[in-house]
Amino acid sequence: MALDARILLVDDEVRLLEPLSMALEDMGCYVKTAPGPDEAMRCAREDTFQIAFVDNFLGPMRGIDLMQQMAKLDPGLDFVIMTGNPDIDLAVESLKTGAADFIRKPFRIEEMLRSIDYVRRKKALEQQRQEVMAGLELKIKEKTEELELMHFSVLASLSRAVETKDPWTYGHSKRVSGHCRLIATRLGFDEFSIENIGAAALLHDIGKIGISDAILSKKGDLSDEERSVIRSHAQKGVDILSPLKQFEALLPAILHHHENYDGSGYPAGLAGEDIPLCARIIAVADAYDSMLSNRPYRSASDQAAATAELIACSGSQFDGRLVHDFVQALRAGKLDK
Ligand SMILES: [Fe+2]
Repeated sequence: MALDARILLVDDEVRLLEPLSMALEDMGCYVKTAPGPDEAMRCAREDTFQIAFVDNFLGPMRGIDLMQQMAKLDPGLDFVIMTGNPDIDLAVESLKTGAADFIRKPFRIEEMLRSIDYVRRKKALEQQRQEVMAGLELKIKEKTEELELMHFSVLASLSRAVETKDPWTYGHSKRVSGHCRLIATRLGFDEFSIENIGAAALLHDIGKIGISDAILSKKGDLSDEERSVIRSHAQKGVDILSPLKQFEALLPAILHHHENYDGSGYPAGLAGEDIPLCARIIAVADAYDSMLSNRPYRSASDQAAATAELIACSGSQFDGRLVHDFVQALRAGKLDK
């Protein structure tokens, strides 16, 4: 059976090249010979081979070093290092530096054929492995995109559910989310954390789904009991989302978005840096957007009045550093409204 391989033989023992070349050609191989590094490099530049048999002792240069230079010219080329040196370290170094096989001189043509067969099988296996890996990577990418799409669909549906429940907040969650993302970007959050706070802000009032319409839309003063029902939306949000594993990281921000910096907020009365940073950011963005919107119990403020109110409440209701960043972003025209 014809071997049909493209072979380059590199050896400064020129007397060996001709009989090896002839034997391989008789078996159907395409063979070129090179008596030194320069000729070998020229052959690799001008022709295409599958396997280069390279003697390790080539006068000024080691075969292993030549192999590395030739590999840069043709990364698909496989190498077999040949040597009369019985040193096992050399064999190990050859394989470590990229040779596919190693044969010791003197060798018979059968050993060369075995080596060609071995190198080709190894190559075929490597190609198969790469194809399997590429297939797996593609599947993982498709699944990841599918999951991301599902994640965003769930997010969009849930935030729409809040707005259906409380028409006064139409567009509010989305605007608060946008504000939070910009503040987070300004604070140097990484991409993942920016996505997280954007999602938490989108869902910060999800607990309102569990509050009666009569209380949510009530004009006029709320009784203590009604106020306590409204306040329960922070915990209710966590109760609604906690079965969804993918929203686990958002829960602290949702639970604590009504905490005040001085500890006077709810539900836990946390103060200062004990309040999760994302919750402190949402508190600022939520209050700002609420002040600019009409609510059942009051009409909208303008931007200057809302900003002044945020500044007035720095250190008491809000984290002053975040208010400062937010106002800077507003003045730089980087936020809506
Ligand atoms: Fe809220």
